[in-house]
Amino acid sequence: MVSVPVSMISFFMSIYIIFTINPQYLLVFVALLVVVWFLIHAAQQKWLWYRRIRAVLESEYTRQFIRNIMSKFEILQSNKIEKEVDNLNEKLHEILEIEKKKHTFEHITYNIGNIITNVIRWSLLFLVGTRILMWTANYSDLTLVILIIWYFETGVLNITGIYKKILKRFSNITQLWEFIDNSPKLKNINEWKKFEYKKWAIQVVDISFGYHDTSFVFENFSIGIDSGTKTAFVGESWGGKTTLVKLLSWYISPNQWDILIDGQKLSEIRLMDYYKHIGYLTQDPWVFDGTIRENLAYALDSEPTQDQLEMAVRNAKCEFVLEFEKGLETEIGERWVRLSWWQKQRLAIAKIMLKNPDIIFLDEPTSALDSFNEEQVNIALHNLFKNKTVIIVAHRLQTVKTADRILLFEKWRVIEDGTHEELVKLGGRYARMLELQGGF
Ligand SMILES: Nc1ncnc2c1ncn2[C@@H]1O[C@H](COP(=O)(O)OP(=O)(O)OP(=O)(O)O)[C@@H](O)[C@H]1O
Ligand SMILES: [Mg+2]
Repeated sequence: MVSVPVSMISFFMSIYIIFTINPQYLLVFVALLVVVWFLIHAAQQKWLWYRRIRAVLESEYTRQFIRNIMSKFEILQSNKIEKEVDNLNEKLHEILEIEKKKHTFEHITYNIGNIITNVIRWSLLFLVGTRILMWTANYSDLTLVILIIWYFETGVLNITGIYKKILKRFSNITQLWEFIDNSPKLKNINEWKKFEYKKWAIQVVDISFGYHDTSFVFENFSIGIDSGTKTAFVGESWGGKTTLVKLLSWYISPNQWDILIDGQKLSEIRLMDYYKHIGYLTQDPWVFDGTIRENLAYALDSEPTQDQLEMAVRNAKCEFVLEFEKGLETEIGERWVRLSWWQKQRLAIAKIMLKNPDIIFLDEPTSALDSFNEEQVNIALHNLFKNKTVIIVAHRLQTVKTADRILLFEKWRVIEDGTHEELVKLGGRYARMLELQGGF
């Protein structure tokens, strides 16, 4: 700030002095000014370009960071945490690189500018000095002191500015790790025992769970689910179906006792190994910014073939993606094509079909479909996940009639348990629900 009035005073004083000495010198001075102005303008354009690129990279970085936080389980389930952290680091590196280039450029132009103005100033002073000796001595002393202070201040300010920016970026990375470390279910993501899928059963042993510490909703709840079977959870809203699926996939953990998968306690195993074997369609599916192809292939270790992709799209009744002008290459997400909830849900089903894991949790997979398409998706799910352990939550009983076993939930308890035929014969709650849905 000091430099502005000082530069202005020196500038007008120079003009006045030159004019008093010889008006022709003023012409040379103005010509020089025009050249310098063009140089400054060019430098300014380049500087703005650096700023623009940095702003774009920064917003990409922030979006990616927020996306990671929002979809932490999707990332875990797809076993992509290292890739996401690498991506963040890469973006961070790009930001630092552009920042470095911008600062180098700033310093070079700043120093060149300084050299030019100083050459002009000192040339003028020399000219004036040869004629008015007293003026020169006082003026140059003053200018020198001001320049030293100015250099010192801008130097210190620049260095602290850069340091602050770097610290800010690194604090974001640290924040992500802190978030993961402090998230109780993710804490031991890289520790604990290795999970091995052995095709055993799921056992829920005496668990208690509550969303709030003060009251449990599942109390001493136990259940066994055979491997390679299709089990349906049905029942009234808020009966606890989604909560149990979240517990089984360890998205939330019970307050008491444990869940055993293949005889291994979920609280003791390395979750990343477990997530490799599960596919979880949540009630609130999420898509990433990127192409449909990238979204579909996200959980896979290798690129799927076009045939595999198209088959998953067909089976999951995701044909709407092919209607987009660019098909699978259509960019989706907040910035591009925004998908509706039902479209996200179908895409999520296609993703699970492509991943084809050993244990599959589907929370309301067909709730957004009409009866005809629901039937077709059910057939596809049935064929694809024939010998897998499938847990399917559904309100429409049409979806669950072929399940090996149906569990009816009411107020956090299983009140009926059996096949479709058995429960119809029982004539209880399930039979009543069926009646209300028009039977079939
Ligand atoms: N994150 C949460 N925090 C606090 N309470 C919750 C939370 N999620 C669910 N609940 C409560 O848990 C109960 C059971 O919810 P849950 O979602 O498991 O039921 P649901 O059987 O899946 O219901 P729906 O058929 O409507 O999906 C509800 O009373 C709900 O208010
Ligand atoms: Mg639910």
